[in-house]
Amino acid sequence: MAAIELNISCPNVAHGVDFGADPGMCGRLVESCRKATSLPIIAKLTPNVTSISVIARAAADAGADAISLINTVLGMAIDWRRRRPMLGNIMGGLSGPAIKPIALRCVYQAAQAVETPLIGIGGIATIDDVMEFLVAGATAVQVGTANYYDPTVTMKLAAALPAALQQLGATTIKEVVGTLKTNDK
Ligand SMILES: Cc1cc2nc3c(=O)[nH]c(=O)nc-3n(C[C@H](O)[C@H](O)[C@H](O)COP(=O)(O)O)c2cc1C
Repeated sequence: MAAIELNISCPNVAHGVDFGADPGMCGRLVESCRKATSLPIIAKLTPNVTSISVIARAAADAGADAISLINTVLGMAIDWRRRRPMLGNIMGGLSGPAIKPIALRCVYQAAQAVETPLIGIGGIATIDDVMEFLVAGATAVQVGTANYYDPTVTMKLAAALPAALQQLGATTIKEVVGTLKTNDK
């Protein structure tokens, strides 16, 4: 099925994250796209904000059919001997396993804030990672960086999914989405 994912969260281009960091701009952008297409719209959010819940609500209220999160975390690398940034743009996006805890937290917070389906992204490389995102509140996941070192990773994850669901006594993803228990329960 075709859909449009709006990357309103890119840290690698000038002003790339601006749309996704301001709830007003995020809402206006999603609203304009909503009017321009009948295809499902997925708003892809940046973690580089104070409150992901506020941005997620703006995207949902503006008519996003789904929200994907997270894009990369703004970072830096420095060659101290040359006193120069390693990246051409000085700052750039950090991805992969290092950002998984941040991504899980963002998905969990967004799931508390909106009813809109969430697509979890950030450091996913194993079936355990996938299950963590589902339990946190994602109804689907995307895999980015892991494809670079294992191009077959997504097929392996899809194959491993039924057995992992079974460990929770489930046969469908729906049964486990957002089922995180807090420690007092
Ligand atoms: C090399 C590279 C290029 C990327 N390009 C894009 C892009 O063009 N558009 C986009 O929305 N996200 C882009 N991303 C972000 C990823 O889609 C993803 O949101 C992020 O890397 C976190 O997931 P991961 O840890 O599985 O890579 C890129 C990430 C990497 C590492």
